[in-house]
Amino acid sequence: MYAYFSFLACFFFLFSFSPISSTKDGFIKNNVEFARSQEQLQVASIEKSDKILNPRTVSEGKVKYISPEDWTSGFYPGTMWYMYELTGDSTWRTRARKYTQAIDTVKYLTWHHDVGFMIQCSFGNGYRLGEKAYKDVIVQAAKSLSTRFRPVAGIIQSWNVDKGWQSQRGWECPVIIDNMMNLELLFNATKLSGDSTFYKIAVSHADQTIKNHYRPDYSCYHVVDYSLKDGSVRNRHTAQGYAHESSWARGQAWGIYGFTVCYRETHNPKYLEQAQKAFNFVIHNKNFPADFVPYWDFDAPKIPNEPRDASAAAVMASALYELSTYSDKEFYKGWADKIMSSLAGPDYRARLGENGNFLLMHSVGSIPHGAEIDVPLNYTDYYFLEALARKKQLEN
Ligand code: GLY
Repeated sequence: MYAYFSFLACFFFLFSFSPISSTKDGFIKNNVEFARSQEQLQVASIEKSDKILNPRTVSEGKVKYISPEDWTSGFYPGTMWYMYELTGDSTWRTRARKYTQAIDTVKYLTWHHDVGFMIQCSFGNGYRLGEKAYKDVIVQAAKSLSTRFRPVAGIIQSWNVDKGWQSQRGWECPVIIDNMMNLELLFNATKLSGDSTFYKIAVSHADQTIKNHYRPDYSCYHVVDYSLKDGSVRNRHTAQGYAHESSWARGQAWGIYGFTVCYRETHNPKYLEQAQKAFNFVIHNKNFPADFVPYWDFDAPKIPNEPRDASAAAVMASALYELSTYSDKEFYKGWADKIMSSLAGPDYRARLGENGNFLLMHSVGSIPHGAEIDVPLNYTDYYFLEALARKKQLEN
């Protein structure tokens, strides 16, 4: 049965491959030029304020700026680093440094797990592109993240449960699939410091996630709540998906990306297999749309009349370019190209000067919370540019 579906998927893939996304016909150049112009407008509008602002989305027609403690604060600085990498223009590097430095205090943040996203996307990219002085920030941030490791359950606790909406769910130690994205910071910190504690925490978290977050069909739960007494699983819930037993699209994408990183850092084939199988769930799902940009939840009740989530597509595309360097190059790169072609087409890519000067339209933050529905999001743009940079590197 599985072989039959794989055959169908390959057949569909081969015959629907769109040549639009190859470098030769200017796909990368066109998108980099667009990003340069659009991001230039974003920077110009921020700089008019004489402040260092951090744009997240558009709300009621206005760009919404966030504080360094917001989970998305690393994406705009990270976008600047990718603009530098994609254009080679040192103006972007100067900006990247400035917007990165502005979130320096995040290295001490211990009240939620997203310090991995925040520091890796900003300082982590800066370090990768030559800012070796960022090492101490990365290691300090990994120490902060490690304070959330709960040895009894072998995981990093995602959210605190003492206030806000999380306190109303009856959870003890909630871990969300998104947390797989924070592990890259820990792997990096071990390489930079020589302290293997961070690496061991990352591996333990990844192993528990395989064991407890995934269903037999390789879709994943959003939230797994652990007991702090004995480490057992208390609940498997959702927070941002449609239902506890549904498959929230961005969660599925976070898992694919996170396990690809784990394979890169450990060479353990079980992580590669996890990423591959989680992606197989996506392409074999009856609700995966023809333009490869998922609905916000694979089980949303009114599909096809449900919002798409371009962020899930962008995260997947970026992960798939990396996955293509580890196995089945044509297959995974082909899928990433197809997703990128859609995202860069008129249905998703904004027009210059519109969309709050964000690059892509049609993402979803959290429908159950009534927040950020069918809007631009800074992380959609970040992963779109990361995917573009990875595509460029693969094709050169
Ligand atoms: N990490 C939060 C989200 O994906 O919405």
